[in-house]
Amino acid sequence: MPFQIDSFDAYLKAQKESQSDPELFWSGIAKHFEWQKPFTEVLSGEMRDGSVRWFADGQINITENALDRHLKERGEQIALQWEPNDPSATSRSFTYRELHEAVSQFGNALRSLGVKKGERIVLYMPMVPELAIAVLACARIGAIHSVVFAGFSAQALSDRIEDAQAAMVITADEGMRGAKTVPLKSTVDEALKENTSVRNVIVKRVTSGKCTMVQKRDVWWEDVIENSGDESHCTPEIMNAEDMLFILYTSGSTGKPKGVVHTHGGYTVYAGYSFANVFQCQPGDVYWCSADIGWITGHTYIVYGPLLQGGTTVMFEGIPTYPDPGRYWAICEKYKVTQFYTAPTAIRALMACGDEHVERHNLETLRVLGSVGEPINEEAWHWYHQKVGQSKCPIVDTWWQTETGGIMISGLGNLSPQKPAHAGYPLPGIHPVLVDPQGTPIHANEKEGLLCIESPWPSMIRTTYGDHERCLNTYFRPFPGRYFTGDGAKRDKDGMYRVIGRVDDVINVSGHRFGTAEIESAINQTSGVIESAVVGCEHEIKGQGIYAFVICERAYEGSEALKMRSAIEAQVVLGIGKIARPDRIQIVEGLPKTRSGKIMRRILRKIASGDYERFGDTSTLLDPSVVAGIVDQARHLQSREQ
Ligand code: WTA
Repeated sequence: MPFQIDSFDAYLKAQKESQSDPELFWSGIAKHFEWQKPFTEVLSGEMRDGSVRWFADGQINITENALDRHLKERGEQIALQWEPNDPSATSRSFTYRELHEAVSQFGNALRSLGVKKGERIVLYMPMVPELAIAVLACARIGAIHSVVFAGFSAQALSDRIEDAQAAMVITADEGMRGAKTVPLKSTVDEALKENTSVRNVIVKRVTSGKCTMVQKRDVWWEDVIENSGDESHCTPEIMNAEDMLFILYTSGSTGKPKGVVHTHGGYTVYAGYSFANVFQCQPGDVYWCSADIGWITGHTYIVYGPLLQGGTTVMFEGIPTYPDPGRYWAICEKYKVTQFYTAPTAIRALMACGDEHVERHNLETLRVLGSVGEPINEEAWHWYHQKVGQSKCPIVDTWWQTETGGIMISGLGNLSPQKPAHAGYPLPGIHPVLVDPQGTPIHANEKEGLLCIESPWPSMIRTTYGDHERCLNTYFRPFPGRYFTGDGAKRDKDGMYRVIGRVDDVINVSGHRFGTAEIESAINQTSGVIESAVVGCEHEIKGQGIYAFVICERAYEGSEALKMRSAIEAQVVLGIGKIARPDRIQIVEGLPKTRSGKIMRRILRKIASGDYERFGDTSTLLDPSVVAGIVDQARHLQSREQ
């Protein structure tokens, strides 16, 4: 089985082989990597009871595959190219040899602080090279990394540290994003106020801003490096294929965010395989993914995937509009980027800033453009294709999830047919199916259904940390024998998939996932609030915005209502972070509830979308007049805003 697919026919052949003998197919792919001990078992367990294991008797450390394996052939090639927030500051780059050294050194530093295999380490860092180094160093010594996006609040960070029972936090004094400085160390201090599991905090100096160190607990990155000894060698921990590699928290439709668990073996195989094929990367290519390492896209397609493939990965500290909206294109030009991967929300935001920012840059080297995180609308697709890709680059619209570990449905570089707003065909070895709510497969094309995955793949979620029942209930029990994605999708007449969006209570804001329950519980902490219901609403740039309907203890008028809304916003920023700040808050007298007390979100979604009439069957509502009240008020608010 060839690792790299080079034609659409080869894709079809691989897909067929993966269907007729999945174990043979995946063992062929897995043998491309270096195993500490070869596996004899390929696939065991089943999706039915969430017990799937891959290559379970094999041993493999992902960092040997991402770093050591390349030293002989491309030790002097740039592995990591870092671009600072401030374009006039000095950029930094690491060859494979240098990155190997930096990771070894920091791995030794972690060991010297007593970090053991299996311990959890939370990373709360800006997009500086040390974040990638820390991720890899954890993996090297068998510690489980859990990166928390640096835009989350102290409360959100604290919840994640608690859930993972982390032994250590790695952070920076502050981070830089555009013209803003983001306090990080002080947020960590706040998050650790009542924590008992964290022994040490390692702090990287980034801005040299104000930062207080807690004696005995806090250490500077530079100091631990100095005391770590040999920099050229750090024995990689022996890892069983099913040992945990990382936990990444993501939102679901209920309760608190859950820790999605990925493992060394399966994740290595699928991150490497999907990267090589979707982006069609060749030696010498310069690949750039503009995501943050705090999300799964950054894990798989900034750090692990490109390094597993021996590519050059670009990492950017800043934001797309700083110092001007041409920054992304300036970076593409500066490093002669060949593959560029970003999110529809960034494309829409830059599109709105005008074509001149793209047109003044030379983008000749680009060969493949990628999109991820949410459905890409046709207008944005065409702009990306024509203006950025100069009508010659294919767009790979990659559908996947934190839980899938890697890209599941997408074109493969320029090999596959493409259609705007369609993710297209599944990757080889991935077998999607659409089902109706009863779980009956929908075989005919041009019908909408719930997207499930029919057979296991190596980088599938293994568990939700500390709560396997939750993992079963969310992904494996809704449609026994299948993995349920939570997304709705449609196949066109040629069988190409278009993913429409979530069918559960998850909102996708600028490609970031939030559970409505999570936002509601933050809102409900505001003093004076009785109850709330949050739904997604259309948003021109973000894809979806957050619309909150809130019942307060009493009615508020004029400036008092304004104050209340600000208090609610502040509470969400405190509980989750600025990224979850509601776009609209409507203080209401009641919520549309059924007689059994369930909020009819369907109605609220309609109101949030400005549709005030077609509510369908409302006969089960306890008090239908509540709806009329909310509508009147929404109309009134709308007309005032116009
Ligand atoms: C959505 C991000 C349409 C989808 C990698 C999924 C998409 C959720 C696409 C996962 C796409 C991601 N087209 N929708 N190309 N990519 N999604 O876990 O709803 O942050 O379930 O992973 O984003 O978000 P997550």
